[in-house]
Amino acid sequence: MADKAVDTLSEEDARDELAGLADKLAAANRAYHTNDAPELTDAEYDRLKQRNAQIEARFPHLKRSDSPTEQVGAAPSDGFSKVRHVVRMMSLSNAFDDADIADFDSSVRRYLGLGTDDPLRYSAEPKIDGLSLSLRYENGRLVQAATRGDGAEGENVTANARTIDDIPARLQGAPEILEVRGEVYMSHEDFAALNARQAARGGKSFANPRNAAAGSLRQLDASITRDRPLRFFAYSWGELSEPLAETQIEAIARLKALGFQVNPLTALCDGPQEMLEHYRKIEAQRATLDYDIDGVVYKVNDLGFQSRMGFRSTTPRWAIAHKFPAELAWTRLEGIDIQVGRTGALSPVARLLPVTVGGVVVSNATLHNEDYIAGRDNEGNAIREGKDIRVGDWVQVYRAGDVIPKVADVDLSKRPEGTTPFGFPQTCPECGSDAIREAGDAVRRCSGGMICPAQAIEKMKHFVSRAAFDIEGLGAKQVEQFHTDGWIKEPADIFELKSRYGSGLQQLKNREGWGEKSATKLFDAIDERRRIPLGRVIFALGIRHVGESASNLLARHYGSWNNFERAAVEAAPMEGAAWDDLLSIDGVGAVMAHSLVSSMNQEAERASIDRLVAHLDIQDAERPNTDDSPVVGKIVVFTGTLEKMTRAEAKARAEALGAKVSGSVSARTDIVVAGPGAGSKEKKARDLGLMVLDEDGWLELIGA
Ligand code: IVH
Repeated sequence: MADKAVDTLSEEDARDELAGLADKLAAANRAYHTNDAPELTDAEYDRLKQRNAQIEARFPHLKRSDSPTEQVGAAPSDGFSKVRHVVRMMSLSNAFDDADIADFDSSVRRYLGLGTDDPLRYSAEPKIDGLSLSLRYENGRLVQAATRGDGAEGENVTANARTIDDIPARLQGAPEILEVRGEVYMSHEDFAALNARQAARGGKSFANPRNAAAGSLRQLDASITRDRPLRFFAYSWGELSEPLAETQIEAIARLKALGFQVNPLTALCDGPQEMLEHYRKIEAQRATLDYDIDGVVYKVNDLGFQSRMGFRSTTPRWAIAHKFPAELAWTRLEGIDIQVGRTGALSPVARLLPVTVGGVVVSNATLHNEDYIAGRDNEGNAIREGKDIRVGDWVQVYRAGDVIPKVADVDLSKRPEGTTPFGFPQTCPECGSDAIREAGDAVRRCSGGMICPAQAIEKMKHFVSRAAFDIEGLGAKQVEQFHTDGWIKEPADIFELKSRYGSGLQQLKNREGWGEKSATKLFDAIDERRRIPLGRVIFALGIRHVGESASNLLARHYGSWNNFERAAVEAAPMEGAAWDDLLSIDGVGAVMAHSLVSSMNQEAERASIDRLVAHLDIQDAERPNTDDSPVVGKIVVFTGTLEKMTRAEAKARAEALGAKVSGSVSARTDIVVAGPGAGSKEKKARDLGLMVLDEDGWLELIGA
């Protein structure tokens, strides 16, 4: 039925129609976001929304409390829904000079077992300085767009992606399931015009095109994204129902044929020399491109090789980003502040006379640590020819991509008279405790632990952060407030807030910035997090060197909190079976293991963890799917030369099947795979009566 013209509607008609539209649009939103099964076309959705707005404009007093115009875009108003990536979205490891590229080529050859003369080709393409996006097509239709997020889970920005011209809504001749990945970016021209528009409206301007692109894509209101000129280059893929091609270059050509923009500076290179030539060519063109790039990405061209090589915890083994040198500027060092971090590290921060570096105004920069200021590296060797850095000095600042700017050099010819070397504090500026440097640690640390307010606050900010407990309503600001008032001194206190201060909500709701509703919401949000996955708990502990992906690795390896805790205690002597087992985890090195075990066995820390755990219901982690694996839980040692795969490949495969790979043979070893040239390990295995297999025997056992 055709709509009646809005200016002929009676008040009664209008009221009814607004009610109907509110229902229809809410249902459409649910279908679209929650079920990912749109019931309306975009055009129909837009038409209904527009009609609703027209009726509301004529009858403002009839506007409903659940009016669709108040629902931001098509997304839920409290943020984007989450999307779990079927295939993780990876980042890239970095290379900074020519030698790193030669090393990369050697490591690829070593992994694949190729000789120096065997052909091995790479694709090379610009590294776009934007943000990555994964587009899911089912039967040729765009059904979902998600940001990278933490790699495992991103944000559902489908409505926004649909507004980007470079992103086709439909594909002809695509695999049934196709996830196309690439970079969303903004051109220089569009960026300048956007900032000019923002300034004219008194809105905030963006620091650089990357921030503008990110801010525009992550708009809850898709109509704002629609007005922002975003673009998209496709360079990779996630889940596929069938392979796209046999090589990277062909796969990119296929994406192009399907209608995606692919970068025209993509080339196929025959080894490091050609890769470096292409790098220089792109570098020379960088200033003339209308978009930001921050390096060149090389990828092993053969997709069969790529899949053999697989991934480290967050990066593919078969690709590397060769970054361009950083951007520089000179300015005056006006002061040095000392910040105290979560692990007690005293970090010197340079306060600078503001200066523009690569288009961004910089007024703070890191000075790393006390040796760096004094002109020494960690081993006591001179850096900057031994020149120290003093307040008042003229210093060189550099930044590369998004990283924190650094003070790199100092101009002695401009040093003012009467300066003295910087005296690095020997006590914590926050709590007065001794600040100690342990042997082998470049960093001086406050020894105050949780009595140091700076450490306690930083630790708790980390604890509530997104990848950790992620408690809604309890962010950095609230943590500081509650800490200052003595309400929370350690993580366990968060879970006692309600019983201690929440009776009748009197105390909390009377505080500034809190009302009954927000207080109740906070307590509910805290209660919700009592049940929490193991990986998040490990990460939340804030142990030095144990990041998010390592925490998840540990969680998958140990399965349950009890196993994890027991292992950490048993590994305390830093030798023996539990220690070896910890080190056998792919992705856990000695430094991390050391930090983990010492922290978990430190008395005060342990007591605090125990108090926390008493409040939690920690969910076991899913172990890798090893249902049919004949070697799950087995301890395997590889020795001698392997001929069909490299050592790294063998280890990665065994681990994927749930086996633990160890470097030494003991009575606990289950299987020893001995290739030609195996020596004492094989002998020991035979003496102990262990199962010894040759490479073929092993492959047969695992059904490869
Ligand atoms: S490939 C598994 N190619 O750089 C392969 N990434 O530092 C993953 N990026 O997260 C990425 N240009 O957002 C690839 N030509 C390119 C790229 C590129 C930019 C971004 C991407 C990635 C980040 C890693």
